[in-house]
Amino acid sequence: MVKLIGSRKIRTAVFISGTGSNFRNLLKFSTLKKSPIKIICVISNNSKAKGLKYARNYKIKKIILKFTDKKNDEKKILLKLRKNKINLICLAGFMKILSANFIKRFNGKILNIHPSLLPKYKGLDTHKRAIQNNEKFSGCSVHYVSAKLDSGKIILQKKVKIFDKDTPKTLAKRVLKQEYILYRKALTKIFPNL
Ligand code: GRF
Repeated sequence: MVKLIGSRKIRTAVFISGTGSNFRNLLKFSTLKKSPIKIICVISNNSKAKGLKYARNYKIKKIILKFTDKKNDEKKILLKLRKNKINLICLAGFMKILSANFIKRFNGKILNIHPSLLPKYKGLDTHKRAIQNNEKFSGCSVHYVSAKLDSGKIILQKKVKIFDKDTPKTLAKRVLKQEYILYRKALTKIFPNL
C-alpha cells in the first residue's frame, strides 16, 4: 500500500489506449474533495485514443509513447513518472502489457480495472466468452497489477447479471457503468483516510 504523508492527495497517472470513459470517471472523481487521488498525467500508447480529449478539459499532461520499443518506452515512462512524482498508476483500458521489470519498480502501486469477475475471463473478449459459456453473472474487478496478466490481488468486485437477451455490447455497457462506481470505491478503500 502507498504510504501517505498528512492529507496530501496521491499523485496519480492514468494509462489508457482508447475511449477513456474510465479515465473521465477518474478525472471527475479526482475533483471531489473526498477523492484520495490527484491526476497529474495521462499516458497512452495510442496518439488517437479518444480519451485523450479529456486531458485538455481537465488540464492534465498528455504523454504518448507508442510501445513499439517497449523496453525503451517503459524507461522513458519511468523517467516521466519520477519527474512528476507519481505515486500511483491507474490502468484504465490500457491495452499494452507492462513488463515485469516496470511492475517491480511500481510494486503495489499499479491498479487495473478488468471487465469480468476475476479469476474468470482474464484477457480479452470477456463479455463474449461469458455469454457463450452461459454464465448467469459477469461483472468487474479492480485489482493490483502483478507480473502475471489479470492475476494480481483483487481489491473489489461487482457482480452484474447476464440476461438471455444480452449481447457482448449490451453487457459491456452495463458492466462499464459498474466499473465507474467500483474504481472510485476501490480507491477509497485503499486510501480510507484522505
Ligand atoms: C473497460 O471495460 C475496462 O474494464 C477494460 O477496457 C475497457 C475500457 O473502457 N480494461 P474505457 O476506455 O475506459 O471506456
